Amino acid sequence: MRLKGRNIAIVGVGPGLGSAVVYMALREGAAVYAFARSAEFLERLKAEYSKYGVLHVSPKDFSRLEEAERAREEVRRVFPELHGLVVTAGCYTSQPVEELGEAELEDMLNKNLKAHIYAVRAFLPLMGRGSSIVLISSVGGAYKAWPRHVAYVAAKAATARAAEALAAELLERGIRVNAVAPGGMAKDFQPGRSYTVALGAPQAPPEEVAKVVIWLLTDEASWVTGAVIPADGGRRLL
Ligand SMILES: NC(=O)c1ccc[n+]([C@@H]2O[C@H](COP(=O)([O-])OP(=O)(O)OC[C@H]3O[C@@H](n4cnc5c(N)ncnc54)[C@H](OP(=O)(O)O)[C@@H]3O)[C@@H](O)[C@H]2O)c1
Repeated sequence: MRLKGRNIAIVGVGPGLGSAVVYMALREGAAVYAFARSAEFLERLKAEYSKYGVLHVSPKDFSRLEEAERAREEVRRVFPELHGLVVTAGCYTSQPVEELGEAELEDMLNKNLKAHIYAVRAFLPLMGRGSSIVLISSVGGAYKAWPRHVAYVAAKAATARAAEALAAELLERGIRVNAVAPGGMAKDFQPGRSYTVALGAPQAPPEEVAKVVIWLLTDEASWVTGAVIPADGGRRLL
């Protein structure tokens, strides 16, 4: 149990990667506070995953600083200290630049970038030396500049660079910040299933990426900060 006694907040939990990280963190002994925008989804998550450990949930939109700060106060009431923060919030879009609308660009920046920075800003007062922050970027943006993806690639590149800048800023406070850059990932996480996947496959089970996130939360990664780790089974190399 590599996260026993640790309190972890996970922001932007959906049915894929976020749920896999919640499940694995609970199985590693962490107490988890999960946030997403949908109250209904969170209630289902709590009903299904509470059997694995201590799980709190609360609907919040982290693209608004005020809501992120309200989330921190809720966390503070049950966890005096936070040892880990994972931000899986995000969204995807693709179109030629001439077809990119204002609302779409704003949505990309709100969910893929602002929600990450506001989550870090809000939760930092609860985090001390030895704690770990993981932001989810994407191979598209962190490693590749795909055509017809300017909004997504720019937002995900910004998330990766934000992780590096935050790592530099928080170095002296002993707080590690890293980003994980997945390739294609399925959104169908199911606890405890068995699966096979070949290197180079276009889509990973979210577990493959969640394992990297969990490792970054543990002391096994205590010398890793400011890294942007691709977790795409090598697909970006093809
Ligand atoms: N799936 C892939 O192929 C892939 C590839 C590379 C990178 N990624 C990245 O990996 C992460 C997880 O991916 P996924 O496929 O599991 O995504 P997902 O199912 O779309 O989950 C993302 C979750 O974040 C939530 N969210 C978005 N904005 C938020 C905000 N402002 N405040 C709180 N919650 C917010 C979403 O809620 P709503 O549904 O209500 O917006 C959703 O529940 C994302 O950052 C994604 O961009 C995914």
